[in-house]
Amino acid sequence: MKPFSKSFWRALPAIFSRHLREDKTSTHDHAAETPATLCALPERSDFESLAPGVGYFGALEYTNGPFPINGWLLAPQQLKTFGLYIDDALVQVVPAQKTPPDFGVINAKGVPSLFAFLLSEESADLPSFARIQVVGCTAEKPVRQLATFFRPAMNSSVPTPPAELMERVTGNRDGHLVKAAGLRCCCEFLDTLSRYQDLGTIRRVLDWGCGCGRVTVHLKDFFSRYPDAEVYGCDIDREAIGWCQQNIDAARFSTIEPFPPTNWPANTFDAVVSCSVFTHLARDVQHAWLNEMNRITVPGGILLASVVSKFPVSRVPPGGIYDDVVDVRLEGIAPDGYYRSTHQTRDYTLREWSAHFDVLEFIENGIESAQDLVVMRKRV
Ligand SMILES: C[S@@+](CC[C@H](N)C(=O)[O-])C[C@H]1O[C@@H](n2cnc3c(N)ncnc32)[C@H](O)[C@@H]1O
Repeated sequence: MKPFSKSFWRALPAIFSRHLREDKTSTHDHAAETPATLCALPERSDFESLAPGVGYFGALEYTNGPFPINGWLLAPQQLKTFGLYIDDALVQVVPAQKTPPDFGVINAKGVPSLFAFLLSEESADLPSFARIQVVGCTAEKPVRQLATFFRPAMNSSVPTPPAELMERVTGNRDGHLVKAAGLRCCCEFLDTLSRYQDLGTIRRVLDWGCGCGRVTVHLKDFFSRYPDAEVYGCDIDREAIGWCQQNIDAARFSTIEPFPPTNWPANTFDAVVSCSVFTHLARDVQHAWLNEMNRITVPGGILLASVVSKFPVSRVPPGGIYDDVVDVRLEGIAPDGYYRSTHQTRDYTLREWSAHFDVLEFIENGIESAQDLVVMRKRV
């Protein structure tokens, strides 16, 4: 995965490296081992071929003093070392720690290793968005990576949706976690998008199925650096959209119908992102919406959409999609039986969705370690 490009990240590493200090609590002697001897980590992030790992960041909260960056990452074997990159520059290397015996990872294939970095920062100097990337290594080489954004003032600057609205789309009522997860999701979308489009040239981006704006709120803050960029969000959930309209300024939200078309003219959006929406639609409804996404996207525009390709083996039907189970969380909002829990294989997705778009990539675990990310481009 290539880091964000070019100009706007250029100034940021200096800010961080200026404030770096040795982690006094660690028993590991960083000075004695250079990154190169640990696992050949490059000074600048360069991990295009490294798949996103399954893992999580702990709460990234910075007030004053040392700034901890903790979490875990799953790999085929126990990891030896972690490298931390901030805005593309290597800033710290620490030994990996084993997980305690009672550490639970649901449905995980692999071994979790813990990372714990400690940085010193002065909040006044932190940029409003920093990209944090953790790379896990065996003794010889980097094997997995995990990335997110960090927004120092997120608690105060990002509005917290009502608990019921957060629960409806994430199953979680904790505002801090929901905002942090939305930020990671936004980072994953933008990281991927930046490999296909210069983000500075995007005029209109749509978050289709935005719910209570968990991802949209970060997208619109990110794109605010480009004066010509407009961020849109839409959903069939009128109450969630009403909350977004009242609380998230500078983005344009609208309620749409469960079935296409939308009111947007053809060729409106340079990019469309969609987190966990196709994962709730039956196969024929997916086709109808892929068709509509194609209509409203500019030729050459990108659609990034998540799917779930993991499901109990016994349930994988011969066609490669399982869309029979109704999800009741949208009762009274979506038409009866509309909202599903849909699982589909990589092969199904590539075969069926390429009727609408060129499918450029299928990134396993590309969204929040939980869903896969399908990268599509509208044919010119
Ligand atoms: C699991 S939630 C994800 C919400 C949001 N993308 C996020 O990541 O927080 C799925 C969302 O898709 C919305 N949805 C379902 N069908 C839709 C459709 N046809 N068009 C737009 N939104 C839809 C639901 O109302 C719900 O808000």
